[in-house]
Amino acid sequence: MGTSQTNADVAVVGLGRVGLPLALSFADRGLRVIGVDNDPVRLGAARDGRMPFAETGAQELLDRIALDPPDAGSPVAPGEPGSLTLSERVADAARARHIVITLGTPSFSHIEIDMRDIRSALDDLLGVLAPGHSLILRSTVAPGTTEFVAGYVAKHRGFDIGEEVMVAHAPERIAAGRFLEEIDTLPCIIGGVGRRSGEVVAELFGVFDAPIVHTTPVQAELAKIWTNILRYANFALPNLLMMDCERYSANVFEVIDLINRNYPRGGIAQPGFTAGTCLRKDFTFSEERSAAPGMLLAVSRVNESVPLFLLEGAKRRLGSLANRKVAVLGLAFKADTDDERDSLAHKLIRLLERELADVAVHDPHVPTPTASFEEAVDGAEMVVVAANHSEFREPAALAAIAERAAQDCLVVDPWNCWGAAQVFAYASELVTLGPTHPAR
Ligand SMILES: NC(=O)c1ccc[n+]([C@@H]2O[C@H](COP(=O)([O-])OP(=O)(O)OC[C@H]3O[C@@H](n4cnc5c(N)ncnc54)[C@H](O)[C@@H]3O)[C@@H](O)[C@H]2O)c1
Repeated sequence: MGTSQTNADVAVVGLGRVGLPLALSFADRGLRVIGVDNDPVRLGAARDGRMPFAETGAQELLDRIALDPPDAGSPVAPGEPGSLTLSERVADAARARHIVITLGTPSFSHIEIDMRDIRSALDDLLGVLAPGHSLILRSTVAPGTTEFVAGYVAKHRGFDIGEEVMVAHAPERIAAGRFLEEIDTLPCIIGGVGRRSGEVVAELFGVFDAPIVHTTPVQAELAKIWTNILRYANFALPNLLMMDCERYSANVFEVIDLINRNYPRGGIAQPGFTAGTCLRKDFTFSEERSAAPGMLLAVSRVNESVPLFLLEGAKRRLGSLANRKVAVLGLAFKADTDDERDSLAHKLIRLLERELADVAVHDPHVPTPTASFEEAVDGAEMVVVAANHSEFREPAALAAIAERAAQDCLVVDPWNCWGAAQVFAYASELVTLGPTHPAR
């Protein structure tokens, strides 16, 4: 069994929202990087020097990093920027010493991790792995997955994991839009299998400024999943409170203010649409083997029922929505991102369509074509703020709604965008109320 013949430092398999900024960041630290993706559109955009999605500062990195350099195999001079070589073949990743997997890890709808992308990449790599390689799972995975990967490689190739081939979990915990800042600041958790995996993988991530924290693979997996479960549950509480307040004709923003104001053990968050590709599925990696089955599912049900709650609340005030124009502001899953994967705005739109409403959508960030703000709002009898983008939080946006929408237009704003502290209010009321409570 020979040692690996590598001519690159690191390969990143899966050039998505995590993988591409990570590949660019490694190259920016002077590493020779191989970036692999099997999506021709995504790869084509990167080859053309275009970021396929928004990530603060990433386009500037892509502009200055050498792409597919002809001398990719030769050493990079110290202090010089590294390079990024693009490929559609997973097996090409084995030309690098470290192989970082940043593939998607969705959940099946019956609550079970879907590892098909990871299994497929592993199978492509099995034949080309050699002593000296390290395999790093950066994707979010269910507890036990890193040990499974180590066992799979050992079973099929007979390597001594942690001595010949390294396997580790180094979970990604950045928030979209803050990648380049957080890669240097968030503690980098590394859970290595066997004696040396953690130490070898720490050499790779040592190119960033963030402190490295060593732990076991399963603790790294649990830490990542529970980072997101904490957030998901944190937002379910104010969302449930919002529904309770409606039942008792109370004002959720005032109750939240009463809870938090000058109280050292307060800290309840603000309501809103809580979803997105990570929060919406990461809880299932605990739920699939939970000691308290249903508990996190209930958290998910609360967050998932916010669109229906808003729709029912609107119907209580307006009556039937059939043939009435409803403007939905924001398609993205959260403020100021172009990522609309797993956004609750889509769910809200589907629910509105089932009421036979005439839905008009505006989002200034997402790639999906939408109406202009004016087209969406003109004559609308109801406006829902589904994503609290900065543009919508401007007082001018509220003034434009009041001016252009139908008289007595109902504005539904779980985010409290304009500080008027009303989930449901008529546009004319909101303009006169002005800010009373700060938004999320
Ligand atoms: N998006 C985030 O903000 C974020 C944050 C932290 C962690 N994570 C986790 O990181 C992982 C990746 O998330 P993402 O949002 O970057 O996903 P993504 O879907 O944007 O990226 C995955 C990429 O892998 C490619 N791919 C799929 N199968 C492939 C294969 N067999 N060979 C080569 N390429 C293949 C896809 O074309 C895609 O470009 C997930 O586990 C996610 O939970 C995401």
